[in-house]
Amino acid sequence: MSSPTAPPALTDVEKNQDSGIVDRVIQSYRPDGPFMVLRAKELAAIYRAYQLDPRTPDPAVFAVESLAHVLQDGITAMFDRLNLTSESVVLSVGEGNGAPSRLLAKLVGCRIVGVDISPLQIANAREVAPLHGVDHLVEYHQQNASALDLGDRRFDAAYFNETMCHWADKPSALRRTREHLKPKALLAFNDWTSGHRGTLNEAYHAVPSFRELYQPDIWRQISIEETTRLLEGAGFTVLAAEDLTDYTDRALKQRLKELELLPQRNEPTRRGVEYYRAMIATHGDYLRYGRFIAQAP
Ligand SMILES: C[S@@+](CC[C@H](N)C(=O)[O-])C[C@H]1O[C@@H](n2cnc3c(N)ncnc32)[C@H](O)[C@@H]1O
Repeated sequence: MSSPTAPPALTDVEKNQDSGIVDRVIQSYRPDGPFMVLRAKELAAIYRAYQLDPRTPDPAVFAVESLAHVLQDGITAMFDRLNLTSESVVLSVGEGNGAPSRLLAKLVGCRIVGVDISPLQIANAREVAPLHGVDHLVEYHQQNASALDLGDRRFDAAYFNETMCHWADKPSALRRTREHLKPKALLAFNDWTSGHRGTLNEAYHAVPSFRELYQPDIWRQISIEETTRLLEGAGFTVLAAEDLTDYTDRALKQRLKELELLPQRNEPTRRGVEYYRAMIATHGDYLRYGRFIAQAP
């Protein structure tokens, strides 16, 4: 029995209501932070210098503006699982700076509603959309995934890319996502899952180069098996749960090699090299990757 003076044990819900994590996540993805979030003006200058047309789905464009670990191929492979048409309306939770949704808008011509907890990321996504000529197809809202509320809107499909690993209250976020989907709609997501020694919260202490990249204690990674159970608990049928660790490890090492071989390193390239080196150092022990495909009831 606990002593009468001991504080009452926290319930799971109370443990998850850690408002500090929200602030630390927002700080981690700010434009002037160590994680590279480029503003529209900076992107436009890079595209001019390298004669890239951001209105195309050229992988070089995506590579400039996204640090998605699964790279463009891993994003399109996820989109391919959603059976989308130009008529689809897609929900993206954890939208970030919007790079995957802009790519989707260009590839399929569908509409996307992006939700993110960070006002900075939402502002950036709004600012960059016209550069890609997709501003008529994308719409953004600042919300926490666990309290997702877009009224009575129901979507044809949903996707999350590399974001659920931050969500403190995943059961609520998955339930809210399911409630915003049409019957039998598909959900696909790429996620950062836990490693053999724990999560990136542990890497913060164990891998010195990683410490520079993000705020402490912003990771809520779980295993592929736990993610599958949460999806089922939220009412989804799980159609696939795949381990993407080998693919992603090879892809990031290849990306790093390409950046290291560039004759001239501008600031984003220099930061990219540091970022990929530090992230690759966490692979296996503190970071693995998964892809999940699920269907709403
Ligand atoms: C690594 S970024 C990925 C962004 C985007 N999906 C992409 O692939 O480019 C993770 C994003 O998740 C967002 N995020 C973290 N926790 C969230 C939450 N509880 N609700 C909504 N968004 C969240 C962060 O603000 C950040 O923009």
